[in-house]
Amino acid sequence: MSEKTIYFDNNATTRVCDEAVEAMLPFLTEKYGNPSSMHEFGGQVGSYIKKARQQVADLIGAASPDEIIFTSCGTESSNTALRGLTNPHKKHIITTKVEHPCVLNVTKQLEKKGYETTYLNVNSEGEIELEEFKNSIRPDTAIVAIMWANNETGVIFPVEKMAEITKEKNPETLFFVDGVQAAGKIPINVKNTKIDMLGISGHKIHAPKGVGALYIRKGTPITPFMLGGHQERGKRAGTENVPGIIAMGVAAEEASNYLDDEATRVKQLRDKLEKGILERIFNARVNGSRINRVPNTTNISFEYIEGELILLHLSDLGICASSGSACTSGNLEPSHVLRAMGVPFTAVHGSIRFSLSRYTTEEDVNYVLEKLPEVINKLNTISPFQKELKELKEMKRVCLSTGKEKGCCKSGNCHHN
Ligand SMILES: Cc1ncc(COP(=O)(O)O)c(C=O)c1O
Repeated sequence: MSEKTIYFDNNATTRVCDEAVEAMLPFLTEKYGNPSSMHEFGGQVGSYIKKARQQVADLIGAASPDEIIFTSCGTESSNTALRGLTNPHKKHIITTKVEHPCVLNVTKQLEKKGYETTYLNVNSEGEIELEEFKNSIRPDTAIVAIMWANNETGVIFPVEKMAEITKEKNPETLFFVDGVQAAGKIPINVKNTKIDMLGISGHKIHAPKGVGALYIRKGTPITPFMLGGHQERGKRAGTENVPGIIAMGVAAEEASNYLDDEATRVKQLRDKLEKGILERIFNARVNGSRINRVPNTTNISFEYIEGELILLHLSDLGICASSGSACTSGNLEPSHVLRAMGVPFTAVHGSIRFSLSRYTTEEDVNYVLEKLPEVINKLNTISPFQKELKELKEMKRVCLSTGKEKGCCKSGNCHHN
C-alpha cells in the first residue's frame, strides 16, 4: 500500500471534520445518558439534540427544526419516505432510471406489493425531459422520488420545478427528494419549494457514518417505517445515535459556512483536474452535463480500457477514486447510470468518478495529473481494442473547431472529445 492517500472519493464517504469529532466526543464519555430517561443526566442530552436538529434544518432551509427526523443513513431516509405511503388507492410511483439503489431496490420491492413504477429516461447529458415527467403524473400517483444530484455524474435534476409541476397536476402526490449528494454542495432551501420530504446522509457531509436525516414538511401524511418507542416524536423509533446526531449538526453548520467555498474553490480544482485529464489523455471523455452539475464531481471514461484496472493502479499510487457508486462498485456491474445515458459499452467499462471535498488541495490535483497519464498509457498498450484506440488517436489529433492540428486554438474542442 502507498504511503500517501490522495482522496478523490468524497461521493462515497468523507473525512469527519475536526469540529464534528470534538463535538461528539463528550457524548461517548461523560454525557452518555439516554435522552428518553426521566433523570436529568439523560434528559439534558435532549437539548443538544435539539440544537443539532436546528443546525440540520438550517443547512436545508427547513421552516422548523420539528420537520427534521434523524435516521441512521441516507438509505433509511429514502426507505422511510417510500415505505410510509398511506393512501391504499394510490399505487403509482415515479422515479428515474438513474436513482441510487436505496430508491430503485425499494420500488422494485413495492412493485411486488401491487405498486406500479414509471422509470423516467435521461438524455445523453444525464438530464430529465420535463415534458416526459409531466405526462407521467397520474391521478393515482402516490409519490415522486427523485435525486437532487446524481452520485455518479453529479448531474443536477430540476427538483424544485418538478415539485411545482407535480403539485399543479396532482396536489395529493408526495414529492420526495434524495438530497444526499446535493446537501452541502449547492444551496438548498426547502421551505420555498413544494418538496414534501428530503433525505440527507451524515457521512457525505463530513459527519460520521451511521447517521442521516429526513426532512418531512409539516402535515405530510406518512406512517413510520421504524416501529418501537416514541423517539423522534413517534416518527422514527429507536434510541438516538446521540454522538452521531451531535456530530451531524456541527457538520451541517460547517457545511453551511463552507457552501460558497465548495462552489468556487472546489469547482476550480475539479475543472483543473478535468481539463488536465482531457488535455493529456486522448481516450478520455467526460460523462454527463459539464454545466449542470454539483461542483465537486467529474465522471470520466477512459475508452477501451477497464475501470477496475485503472482503480487498482491508482490505488497502488495512493489515489482513491471510484468506478461507480460505492454500493455497486463491489459487484462489477456496469453503471446503470451511464447505461441509461446511452454511453457506449466500451466507455462505460472504463469510467472513473473523481469526487472532491473542501479538504482536496491543488497538490492532490497535480499529483493525479502527473500519475494518471502514465497509468492510462500503460493500460492502453494492453487493451484488446488496439485498432479502435489508434483510430481514436488519429481523430483526436485534429481540432474539431478548425480542422487544424490539435492545440491550434483555445476552443474547448481542441482538447475535448
Ligand atoms: C444519491 C445517494 N443516495 C443515497 C445514498 C445512501 O446513503 P447512505 O450511505 O447514508 O445510506 C447514497 C450513497 O452513496 C447516494 O449517493
